[in-house]
Amino acid sequence: MLKGKRSIFSVPALALLVSACSPGEPPQMPAGMDVDDYDIDALVAAADPNRGRTQFILCQSCHSLSEGGPHKVGPNLWGFFGNQAAQAPGFNFSNALRESGIVWTNETLDAFIERPSDLVPGNSMVFVGIRNPLDRAAIIAYLKQETGAE
Ligand code: HEC
Repeated sequence: MLKGKRSIFSVPALALLVSACSPGEPPQMPAGMDVDDYDIDALVAAADPNRGRTQFILCQSCHSLSEGGPHKVGPNLWGFFGNQAAQAPGFNFSNALRESGIVWTNETLDAFIERPSDLVPGNSMVFVGIRNPLDRAAIIAYLKQETGAE
């Protein structure tokens, strides 16, 4: 019995527990969408920025969001959304990101947060990525709210 119970604490189950404990209702994929086929604009529009605030714990050691906030390991992100990548003055961006030609939209940000090294090989953001599109959508909604987008 005990052994069976312990298996609950496998890593994926733990991740599930953690996300289930986030404030608000655990979000669900809307009907007709799944992890391989979804509309990121619709997911971001429906996402709760407060859930994103919780998820942003993964990013906050490296990024500040407010206007005039400091660069950390990563750039301050105020005003980044809707603009060309690697524009924040005074931050030493990688050539890879500078030359990527990326404009930050829901779609490009979703791909970047999923796996930074896939979207921009050789970029200097050391971050493994976030698997769940709903978690990414919540972070994007939060980022937009906090960085002066819209
Ligand atoms: C270990 C530090 C670190 C973590 C954690 C991290 N980042 Fe970054 N981030 C960076 C660095 C460094 C860059 C600059 C990359 C480059 O120049 O290649 C960057 C770049 C970015 C950019 C592009 C900014 C621009 O002006 O083009 C975005 C957007 C971003 N990060 C979002 C996030 C989000 C969202 C998270 C959490 C899910 C996150 N980052 C986690 C270090 C980090």
